[in-house]
Amino acid sequence: MATRTDFNDRMLSLGLARVSEAAAMASAKLIGRGNEKAADQAAVNAMRTQLNMLDINGVVVIGEGERDEAPMLYIGEEVGTGTGPSVDIALDPLEGTTLTAKDMPNALTVIAMGPRGSMLHAPDVYMEKLAIGPGYANDTVTLDMSPVERVQALAKAKGGDTSDVTVCVLERPRHDEMVAELRTTGCAIRLITDGDVAGVIHCADPAKTGIDMYMGSGGAPEGVLAAAALKCLGGQMYGKLLFRNDDERGRAAKAGITDLDKIYSRDELVTHDVIFAASGVTDGSLVSGIKREVGYVTIETILMRSKTGSVRRMIYRNPTR
Ligand code: FBP
Repeated sequence: MATRTDFNDRMLSLGLARVSEAAAMASAKLIGRGNEKAADQAAVNAMRTQLNMLDINGVVVIGEGERDEAPMLYIGEEVGTGTGPSVDIALDPLEGTTLTAKDMPNALTVIAMGPRGSMLHAPDVYMEKLAIGPGYANDTVTLDMSPVERVQALAKAKGGDTSDVTVCVLERPRHDEMVAELRTTGCAIRLITDGDVAGVIHCADPAKTGIDMYMGSGGAPEGVLAAAALKCLGGQMYGKLLFRNDDERGRAAKAGITDLDKIYSRDELVTHDVIFAASGVTDGSLVSGIKREVGYVTIETILMRSKTGSVRRMIYRNPTR
């Protein structure tokens, strides 16, 4: 029986990069073609095929949805050859399906892997998220603070004024009130149309991305993936599951979640060391998007290990025929 110590993340991480790369390669032909579903399906098929080549005894804990709604890479699906260590997999074969279909920035393929039991089995509901980068004292900002208080606290910790803070927010009507509150502080707001995994990751490198803080609600599965990335890159994150009805509360019960009001820290969302890979589909500040030339595609992948904090970037140029 495999144990946590069998999780050889150094070698497995290289295989994980290929999984993420394969999903990106499959979606290349569908960038800017206005077909979200086809782009997602291509990425799902490719990710699953490549994942099943890895010598792991894997279970999808964050995937494409419940078994009855997603035929592939559903929550609970067993993946890998079944001969290696017991691992949990969190994935989003195409994070930003609309971004891909419209050829807008920051679409990614994303996958994280850790020993069994290393990541929250988040149901497919919304999550209230808050993230900042590395270098700040614990709880510099919290979900209990109002948006204004968060900006003030971060400005103070940064040694600047509230106007020196940039907050990233998913542009949704449900965030209108929060955005209006934030505006009263004079901070800058980077509104994104989709892709809050990238949104949260942006906080890890403010010098490059210009983003100091992420806040607002988005998919809970994406929240766990973002926490896995921040565990590798550094930075703080909090998440609280949001339930709109009994069906959603039922999903939580099915996932074994009993405290519906719990605020999860980054290390409660991802409790053990993990490896994380993401490949660029469209251009973003984390990784470049896919470059297409006649007969070739070039893909950039970022590969990270939380145990060591190592970050590896790989450029893959491959013939398309
Ligand atoms: P998809 O790639 O599945 O379309 O998700 C994109 C996304 O923007 C996520 O990054 C985010 O967490 C979620 O959708 C937000 O959901 P909603 O569009 O319902 O606000």
